[in-house]
Amino acid sequence: MAESMRGLKRSHRCTEVSAANQGETVTVMGWVQKSRNKGGIIFVDLRDRSGLLQLIFEESDCGAENFAKAEKLRSEFVIAVTGCVEKRGGALNENLATGDIEIRAKELRILSEAETPPFPIEENSKTKEELRLKYRYLDLRRPDLQRNLMLRSRVAVLVRQFLTEEGFLEIETPMLTKSTPEGARDYLVPSRVHPGNFYALPQSPQLFKQLLMCSGYDRYFQIAKCFRDEDLRADRQPEFSQIDMELSFVDVDDVIDINERLLQKLFKEILDIEIPMPIERMTWQEAMDRFGSDKPDLRFGMELTNVTEVVRDCEFAVFKNAVEMGGSVRGLNVKGQAGMPRKKIDALVDFAKDYGAKGLAYLAVNEDGSYKSSFAKFMSEEELSRLVGAMKGEKGDLLLFAADKNKVVYDALGALRIHLGELLELFDKNEYRFLWVTEFPLLEYSEEEGRFTAMHHPFTMPMEEDLPLLDTDPGKVRANAYDIVLNGTELGGGSVRIFQNDVQEKMFEALGFTKEDAYEQFGFLLNAFKYGVPPHAGLAYGLDRLIMLMAKEENIRDVIAFPKVKDASCLMTEAPDKVDEAQLKELKIETCGQEES
Ligand code: AMO
Ligand code: AMP
Repeated sequence: MAESMRGLKRSHRCTEVSAANQGETVTVMGWVQKSRNKGGIIFVDLRDRSGLLQLIFEESDCGAENFAKAEKLRSEFVIAVTGCVEKRGGALNENLATGDIEIRAKELRILSEAETPPFPIEENSKTKEELRLKYRYLDLRRPDLQRNLMLRSRVAVLVRQFLTEEGFLEIETPMLTKSTPEGARDYLVPSRVHPGNFYALPQSPQLFKQLLMCSGYDRYFQIAKCFRDEDLRADRQPEFSQIDMELSFVDVDDVIDINERLLQKLFKEILDIEIPMPIERMTWQEAMDRFGSDKPDLRFGMELTNVTEVVRDCEFAVFKNAVEMGGSVRGLNVKGQAGMPRKKIDALVDFAKDYGAKGLAYLAVNEDGSYKSSFAKFMSEEELSRLVGAMKGEKGDLLLFAADKNKVVYDALGALRIHLGELLELFDKNEYRFLWVTEFPLLEYSEEEGRFTAMHHPFTMPMEEDLPLLDTDPGKVRANAYDIVLNGTELGGGSVRIFQNDVQEKMFEALGFTKEDAYEQFGFLLNAFKYGVPPHAGLAYGLDRLIMLMAKEENIRDVIAFPKVKDASCLMTEAPDKVDEAQLKELKIETCGQEES
């Protein structure tokens, strides 16, 4: 039966009690981690969000009634205990923050009993994630998740503090809105009052923050919920949070400066890590050429080498054909891996195929200088040695090549580089390497849609010197956009915005919108620009990703209190779910094709 806590007040969290409190009477409250009955003496580990504290019950201290209650304690009971802080009698526990003390209990109240949980509440749980997510409220009791969420809260506080000091205003933007075209599918919410019409949940506050600049708010930020109906991965959730900001009367360098100082503060105050400033900058083209990725992990080398010119005239059809169709041949030099067994090389080929490559050609430079290769027979000795030379291949090296359209070569080798970096442990997991990637292409051609789409979003300013190309060769225009990358993850992205109506209209034209389409969808923004708009720029971080990297977690779910799984469902609430016929009727919605339940 649950007892009341009337008359008791918690004086300390578990780990707030220390040897300095020796002799004092304290009251602690929390969950029983473990209880051990050793006959006349009962030891209980009490847990709260701060950590563990050992309680000790003896009848001579607490009386028969309390002792009898202590005998009933089981894991996850919620209790309140008043007692005296003592130096530990038995062995000290160095693994515990409170390992040198214990509380000699005088009074015990059982505030709530507990059934045996479906899995043990412990750090580094081995329990399957599906089960943990079904009982997320229990999972969230585990110390690792508690630490992650506390870290998240501290980051949010520091972000608010820093940006406020820099003159930013925190302003909320609507959740029920019109769709903003940022590449992903929208989550739609039906309107009851306007049957057949839908709100979209925001993919980001992009348009609203630009409107706030038009309204003179100058510097805005928000920790904003965003919704994107896209395929989920380890670093993607359908519902996630952005640290979103926008600034007026600024250029790229101003945005970068503020954000470098923000990152510096977060990493120093939270992880005691000094980020060397300024953060390196690299153009998109350089990142692709050197690393095959627009979010390169700079913690290790193994850069791509373009050997197109070296193999241009060779007889190996795979290389020759790729060059002839305007593609390229590039390679990775995997140092010291010439002896890699064929089976492992085949696994690398399969890996590359997953990223769109048709294959992977390899050449191992044996210790005696001879070659073992999948294509050597198609090349002369001289051609081979030129190729090995271009790759800076030495005895013992394994050279891997992909030949295809540039995009395929970049994707396959970029992913393979990261895969090999992990496989061969080429980087220090404790290092944090930041990078700004700049000068992204403004547009990319979508074969699927048969038109250009915006690489960042349609409000991103082209680089001034490329403006004339917008009419003649839109694919070549570079954007005044920047991404902040950390250890191979895109942490955030932003851009200088278009603030001239004529440029914005031209941009829509390049995207294949008629003027009417553009006004139909974004009329409120285009009209706002007619009434005086300051030059502005901004950026948004993925807060969840930032926390994931700071907490050294591999999965974004581990830094979100109630995350969704791969099919975008919540295993605890079982959302999404069917709704009442009456609700649908009110919304004038009929469904066809229902999921089997
Ligand atoms: P962008 O689309 O690049 O830019 O998003 C900014 C950052 O948000 C994070 N992010 C995600 N995190 C978790 N799950 C997702 N599904 C997800 N999608 C994106 C990433 C990304 O870098 N309005 C612009 C910003 C601007 O221009 O100011 C925007 O949303 O870390
Ligand atoms: P094939 O002629 O298809 O038997 O391929 C000969 C070798 O080239 C094999 O080792 C393939 O894995 C490799 N290969 C095939 N296509 C490509 C490609 N696009 N890029 C690099 N290597 C390839």
